[in-house]
Amino acid sequence: MTAPEPAPVRIAPSILSADFARLGDEVRAIEEAGADWVHIDVMDGHYVPNLTIGPMVVKALRPHSALPFDVHLMISPVDHFLDAFAAAGADIITVHPEAGAHIHRTVQHIKSLGKQAGVSLNPGTPAKMLDYLIDDIDLVLVMSVNPGFGGQSFIASQLRKIEAVRRMIDKSGRDIRLEVDGGIDAATAPQAIAAGADVLVAGTATFKGGPSDYADNIRRLRGA
Ligand code: DX5
Ligand code: ZN
Repeated sequence: MTAPEPAPVRIAPSILSADFARLGDEVRAIEEAGADWVHIDVMDGHYVPNLTIGPMVVKALRPHSALPFDVHLMISPVDHFLDAFAAAGADIITVHPEAGAHIHRTVQHIKSLGKQAGVSLNPGTPAKMLDYLIDDIDLVLVMSVNPGFGGQSFIASQLRKIEAVRRMIDKSGRDIRLEVDGGIDAATAPQAIAAGADVLVAGTATFKGGPSDYADNIRRLRGA
C-alpha cells in the first residue's frame, strides 16, 4: 500500500491579531491575500485568562467571507455554547478536553450539528488523550503555546507531539487535519510542517505590517 499524499498546507490566520475595529475588512483582506481558513479564537476569561469574542461577532463576520470559519473555543463549560456557534456560521468547532467533563459527548454534539469537530491539546496534554477520539474527529489542534494570548513564543517540545499525532492520524486512515497554533512564523512554520502539521494558525505573523503586507506574510508562511 502506498502512503497517502500529504494534504496541501493550509494557512489559517487568527483574527485575534487583526484590527478589532475593522474586523469585516480584515477578514476580507486575508481572504484576498490567500488565506485558506479564518481562525477565530474564543476566550472566556475563565478557562483562559483573556476575553475575546462570542457567537454574535462570528455571525456578523459570516457574510464577509466564504472561507471556512475555524472556531477555536477556549471556554468552560463549552457544551451550552456549541449550538450558538454552529448557528452563527462556524464550519469547524474545536474544543479542549479540559474545558468540559465529557469530551466524547462534546464531540458527538458538534457532529450532530453537522459541523466538523476538532480537539485541541494544550502544551502539557499528551497525544494519548486522542486514543478513543481519533475515530470520531475531523481535526487535531496542537497548541504550541499556552492558550490565552497571541504573540507568544513557539514551544519546541510540541514538535514531538505533532509527530506523534501525525502517526496516529496516518494509522487511523481517516481524513483528519493536523493544525498547529501559537508562535508560528516563517522560521517555525517549516518545522511544524516537517513534523506533520497541515494547517498553520498564525496571528502575529499574518497581520503584521497591515493589509498591504498580508499576501507576502501568508506566502512566507507557506515557505514560498
Ligand atoms: C492562543 C490562540 C492563538 C493565537 C496565535 O490562545 O489560540 O490562535 O492567537 O497567535 P500567534 O500566531 O500570534 O502566536
Ligand atoms: Zn487558536
